[in-house]
Amino acid sequence: MWQLEIHAGGGWAAAVAARLRERLAAHPHVRLCLPTGDTPAPAYRELAAAVARGETSLARAEVVLLDEFGGLPPDHPARCERMLRRELLDHVDLPEDRFHHPDLDAELARFAGVVARGGLDLAVVGLGANGHVGLNEPGSTRHAPTRRVELAPPTIERAARYGDGADPAPTWGVTLGMAELLAAREVWLLVTGAHKAPILKRVLEGPVGAEAPASLLREHPRLLVLADEDAAAQLAPSTAPR
Ligand code: PGA
Repeated sequence: MWQLEIHAGGGWAAAVAARLRERLAAHPHVRLCLPTGDTPAPAYRELAAAVARGETSLARAEVVLLDEFGGLPPDHPARCERMLRRELLDHVDLPEDRFHHPDLDAELARFAGVVARGGLDLAVVGLGANGHVGLNEPGSTRHAPTRRVELAPPTIERAARYGDGADPAPTWGVTLGMAELLAAREVWLLVTGAHKAPILKRVLEGPVGAEAPASLLREHPRLLVLADEDAAAQLAPSTAPR
């Protein structure tokens, strides 16, 4: 079962932040996984501003990083951990010991154990232009575990954009698996921009399958798709009544 919410471009970030605030108010200990990238950044700015105004708090929440690129130095700007700190965590009151992120290969078992122990209340994910979720690239099944993955060529191109352009782009990464994401109590898929319209249509209206791993989220009992008008522009009226 899934639900679709479409917001005007200018109001999308505030709407997502408002929903996060609702969850934090209802469940201050919420355990959520958060993505990085261009999509969530404006929503994180709204949320950080609300924390600064004293309207919400992450002091008792727990945050799990959705994915991480491999082979980059610890302070590299394209590392997802650095991005999430820059875009959100440096500006809110989440205690450091309540932020879980995978570091390197050797660390992956520890990270997977942390996720498995408590599970996730809420998995917030973005949508890759190739249908990936986290770094679950096309071909990932619903049983794919938290693991090391080789990146698909479009993801390598995206990763290069997140960096300063000086270093070789990562070719591998680690990601929460489809299995862990589908086991979350609730999943939110964030999608913005006209460039995501074709893949959002494919994910919501095409067949459910590993060729577009995000489509597997439709099997989750509580999936909320939070799209802006540009991303939703190609959806059929039966998917998105106008
Ligand atoms: P983006 O990345 O938010 O930067 O578009 C999404 C993704 O590739 O998962």
